[in-house]
Amino acid sequence: MKKFSGILFAACAFTFSSPMVMADGAAAFQTCVECHGANAEKVAMGKSQVIKGWPATQIVDALNGYKAGTYGGPLKALMKVQVDKLDDASVQAVADYISGL
Ligand code: HEC
Repeated sequence: MKKFSGILFAACAFTFSSPMVMADGAAAFQTCVECHGANAEKVAMGKSQVIKGWPATQIVDALNGYKAGTYGGPLKALMKVQVDKLDDASVQAVADYISGL
């Protein structure tokens, strides 16, 4: 019985997490950390600019540009995959978070 309720809890947490977590900049940024670094201080995959210190508006422009296919360098397709998962509110939230790092 104990095991069963544990599974049930995990299932609920999973169901409820998606939209709420994605609108939370800190949580959304966790998907970026492996490439950009915990403080956005890394040159992602040896190619990106360091985005730490960028104002939120510049980050939003870049992310929306990746989404629309109007921004980026040789690895822009890779970033498009990342931002396609984010809605407008999440793009804004993650940009606000990064600009505050
Ligand atoms: C798999 C690795 C990877 C992940 C995960 C990733 N990025 Fe990137 N990011 C890159 C690379 C590589 C570039 C440079 C792409 C190019 O050629 O334009 C980049 C570029 C960027 C840029 C523009 C910087 C520039 O060079 O113009 C921003 C802003 C950015 N990423 C934000 C994010 C955010 C926010 C997330 C998480 C939602 C994220 N990235 C997830 C690899 C990644």
